Parts: sequence; structure tokens; C-alpha cells
Amino acid sequence: MEYSVKSGNPEKQRSSCVVVGVFESRRLSAAAAALDKASDGFISGIVRRGDMEGTAGQALLLTHVPNVLCDRVLLIGCGKERDFDERAYRRAVATMASKLGECGATEAVSYLSDLSVKGRDAAWRVRDGVQTVAASLYRFDHLKSKKDSPRRPLKRVIFSVPSRRELAAGEEAVRVANAIIAGVNLAKDLGNLPGNVCTPTYLAERGLTLAEQFDSISAEVLGRAEMEQLGMGSLLSVARGSRQEPKLIVLRYQGATEEQRPIALVGKGITFDSGGISIKPAAGMDEMKYDMCGAASVLGTLRACAELKLPLNVVGVIPSCENMPDGAANKPGDIVTSMSGQTIEILNTDAEGRLILCDALTYTERFQPDAVVDIATLTGACVVALGHVVHGLLGNHQPLINDLLAAGRTSGDRAWELPLLDDYQEALNSNFADMANVGDRSAGAITAACFLSRFAGKFHWAHLDIAGTAWKSGKDKGSTGRPVPLLMQFLLDRAAKA
Ligand code: BES
Ligand code: MN
Ligand code: ZN
Repeated sequence: MEYSVKSGNPEKQRSSCVVVGVFESRRLSAAAAALDKASDGFISGIVRRGDMEGTAGQALLLTHVPNVLCDRVLLIGCGKERDFDERAYRRAVATMASKLGECGATEAVSYLSDLSVKGRDAAWRVRDGVQTVAASLYRFDHLKSKKDSPRRPLKRVIFSVPSRRELAAGEEAVRVANAIIAGVNLAKDLGNLPGNVCTPTYLAERGLTLAEQFDSISAEVLGRAEMEQLGMGSLLSVARGSRQEPKLIVLRYQGATEEQRPIALVGKGITFDSGGISIKPAAGMDEMKYDMCGAASVLGTLRACAELKLPLNVVGVIPSCENMPDGAANKPGDIVTSMSGQTIEILNTDAEGRLILCDALTYTERFQPDAVVDIATLTGACVVALGHVVHGLLGNHQPLINDLLAAGRTSGDRAWELPLLDDYQEALNSNFADMANVGDRSAGAITAACFLSRFAGKFHWAHLDIAGTAWKSGKDKGSTGRPVPLLMQFLLDRAAKA
């Protein structure tokens, strides 16, 4: 799909479709009013007849609109004008995208991006609009022998900006959006792949492919032997229950000078989480193929950085293995020694994410990172606390947390802070080792972060628990590509500050 921007009058567009908004109740947007005027009241006639109230989610496709050069006019209901916020804007653009996918138009010029959205400028509207269209067109049908998605003739979507002065910013917004879409789609594809295809070795190969594709990215993959040398006893203990070899995937994106300290992204890459000996119930266990979505978001973010040529250095560290029950697997009560030297009593083998992340965090010290963000489908407790709307966010450095919260608001890929108070740490006390890998059932998302914090003492660190946000269940089951948009916004903001 191709995206671009232009400014100009809707009635003068020669395209296969022009898209304009209608507010509740039956109030024409400026672009709709321009079409109405050119067509001698054709649009207002239809609206008056009662075919388009302007409620959110409504859409009406018109053809043969007099004196308009486009083949089609698509009216999109936008809800009440004074409630037209970011959410309503996204809903309108998504409605547009699904209608455009269904009709035969090859090209569309959208005037939805001219509508004012509180606190957001034209560049934001273009960028967010492009990303929303791309998200609604995404399909994962590589593994179906018959593709069930309809043939989509739509090739090009052009977003309007109110004046020529906004064209340059609009074009830059399209460039940024295209890079983010590439990253989000990579993350979605990797997440949606089944566990028998997307193994640690497969993830590592995809990392190496990124390094081949982009000069600015280099990759290194450590196997079991190298991890043994490093003393990653905690990570390796999880991998022991699986036939798949564990991998530590290290990606380096260089967009700035060597001396500039990198941002490190550490992504949980459990390619299937059965729970191990503390095995999970059968219902919904297939969704544990998504337990590598943190890793996928790291690969996606690095790809987006490279596409954008972002002037920053970013390191991606991905510990990857399966969590399976086996004669060699971890058993409740086992004690392992992490790379940091701290010992861990494994009271529940299903709390494996933290066991691989802790060694990856220790490994990350060698990059002397400016900040470290780990991304993990870490706890069911986070889903209970926050649902599927926001990521859980905790960390040891408030300015870093604030930057991530702000990036979430700008990108719409929001996070919410949970308290990482010392009072929660004692839940991890063990009679036999330096710490246990789980606490009791209370505050599970926080005690998981407490565990990680013990391996993040040497740098500024934040943790995103994406257990509720990385994928959708039910009939829309599929990866969301989150938090690539948040991470990219965070990095864009950093680059702008530097
Ligand atoms: N990958 C899971 C977390 C998870 C569960 C994500 C459900 C999304 C949906 C993680 O490895 C896990 O099993 N966590 C346990 C921790 C518990 C044993 C302390 C959990 O949340 O139940
Ligand atoms: Mn688990
Ligand atoms: Zn897991």
C-alpha cells in the first residue's frame, strides 16, 4: 500500500474515492460541505433523507455525485463534533479503511485528516491515520492454502492536510508511519507464527536476516555453549526441558556515533510456554505461542529504526527458548545460579520469563546502556490488573518511566505505571536461596518486576508487562504488534532531545 499527502479541494480530486466526515446529528464537515456545495445540495439531501446520522461507525458509499470528479464519495460518521478525540478519529479512519477494502476503489483521498482532533496537529493526524489504515488491512494468511481475504484493489491512500504549509510535515509523518508499520507488521507476523515454526533458532535467523537487510544493523547469536561460558544458569535451566536449542540474540542498530551510549531493549522470547513441570491447563494453551511477543517487538523496533535511519544507537537483546516439561526440566524446589551470581529457588516452573530475562539483563550491562527497557508477556496478574488496554509499566528511574508514559499517550499505545515499592520485595524471600522466583498470589505483576529489579541495579531500567496487550483472543485472535508504536515514539522523542 502506498500512502501520501496532499492539500486541495475535495470536489476537484480526480480519484476513485473521496472520503469525508459527517458529525452527529447530520452535521457536514468542511470537506463534506464543499462537496455538497459543488453538487448543489446532493449530500445534504441524502443526509436529510435520514441515510447518514453521523454516528460513529456509520459509513455510506455514494456514486454519481453530480459535479464531483471522483467515482465515489464515502461518508464516514464521526460522532459528536465536540467529542471528536483521538479515539473517535481512529474509529473513523478504521471505518473508512474497512469500507475501502470492501469497495472496488483503487485509490482514495481522505479528508478525515483535516478534521480537528484536540491537542493534535496535522502531522499527527496523518501519521496516526496511515498506521490505522495499515493495521486494518493487515492479514496473516501465509499458512492457509486458500487465502480468505478478498482481493483488494486498493493501492493508494492519500491523506489531506488543511494547507500547503503542512505538506512537508505531512510527508515526514508518512515516512515515520511507514517505518513503524514495517516494524509492527514484522512483530505481528512473528507473534502469529506457530511454535513449531517460530522456534528460538527461527527467531535467531530472522535477527540475522535483519542484519543482512540493513547495513546499520549487526547481529550475533549465542548458543548453549556460549551461554554456559557466561554462566547463564538461570536461562539455561529453563531451556533444559526442551529439544530446541536456546539462543541469545543480540542485535545492534547503529544510527549515531560509536561513543553514544545505546538504549537497550530486552525482549522475552519464550517461543512456547507450556508452564513446564508446573504445567498450564489445556484451555487456551495455544496462545502461549505468543510468549515471544516481547522478542518480536524488539525485532520490529530495530527494523523500524533502520528504516527510519533514526540517529540513535539501540541494542536488542533477546533470550529465547521453550518452556517444556521433560525429564531434564526444572522441578519446583530446584535452585539455580544466575549469571549475576545470585541464586534462585524455582518454586514454580511457569514463572520462567523472569528466569531468562534476569540473565539477559546481566548480559546487557556490557553495553553500558543509557537506559534499558525490557518487554515481556510476563504475568497473568497484569492481565487481571489492567486488562487488554494498557501495558503494565514499572522501573527504577522515574524520568525514564515518565518518558515511556508520554510516548504511550502520543502513540496511542499506552502504558500505565504500577508501584515498584520495596515493600513488595519480601514476597520473594527464600529459606534456601537468595530469592524465590515467585511470591504468593498477590500483586503478581509487581513481584515479577521486583524479581527483575534485582538484576537491573546497574542501569536505568523500565519493564513493560505486555501480557494483556500483545495479542487478542477470540474470533479476532492475533498479534497486535504492540508495543512497537510506543517504543518507536520513545526513541523518536529521545532522538529529538539528543
Ligand atoms: N507467559 C506467562 C504469562 C501469561 C499468562 C501471559 C497468561 C499472558 C497470559 C508467564 O510465563 C507465566 O506463566 N506467568 C505465571 C507466573 C506465576 C506462576 C507466578 C502466571 O502469570 O500465571
Ligand atoms: Mn509461564
Ligand atoms: Zn511465559
